[in-house]
Amino acid sequence: MAKTHITMTVNGTKVEGLVEPRTLLVHFIRENLLLTGTHIGCETTHCGACTVDLDGMSVKSCTVFAVQAAGSDITTIEGMANADGTLHALQEGFREMHGLQCGFCTPGMIMRAYRLLQENPSPTEEEIRFGISGNLCRCTGYQNIVKAIQYAAAKLGGVPLQEAAE
Ligand code: FES
Ligand code: FES
Repeated sequence: MAKTHITMTVNGTKVEGLVEPRTLLVHFIRENLLLTGTHIGCETTHCGACTVDLDGMSVKSCTVFAVQAAGSDITTIEGMANADGTLHALQEGFREMHGLQCGFCTPGMIMRAYRLLQENPSPTEEEIRFGISGNLCRCTGYQNIVKAIQYAAAKLGGVPLQEAAE
C-alpha cells in the first residue's frame, strides 16, 4: 500500500515517518517513534490507555489516523518530566498517592489529567472524576488516582501538599 510522508512535533522534537493511510497514531507513536509509554488497551476508543495531548486536547490516539495528526504538536508520557529530569507534579502525585497498581492505565491517566488541569487548575473531586471518566482503570478503584490529581493540582497551584492528600 502506498505510504505517505508525515511530520509532526512530539515532545518538542520534530519527527517524520512513512505511514499507510490506515496507520493509527498510537501505532506510529509506539512502532515508528518507539515511544512505548503510550499504551494500547482496546483500540476501540473505550479505555483511554492511549491518551496523548494533541494540539491542546486530550486525544485517544487509537482513534486518530497518523496522517490526520500530520503537522500537529503532540505530548506523550515521555515528554512529561521536567527539563531537569525531575518528575512532573502529576507523575510525582501518582507515586506519592499510590495512584497506580499495575500501571497500565497510568500514562493515559496522566496525559488526560494534564489537560484537565490545564483547563481547570483547581478541579473539585467531582470534576476530576468526570474529567477522567473516559479513562478506565481495572485495578485501583480510582480513589488514589483522584488523590494523585488533587496532589498535582495543589502542587502546581502552590497549595500545601498535605491538604491535597487528605
Ligand atoms: S487503546 Fe485507545 S482507547 Fe483503548
Ligand atoms: S493501575 Fe492497573 S489498570 Fe490502572
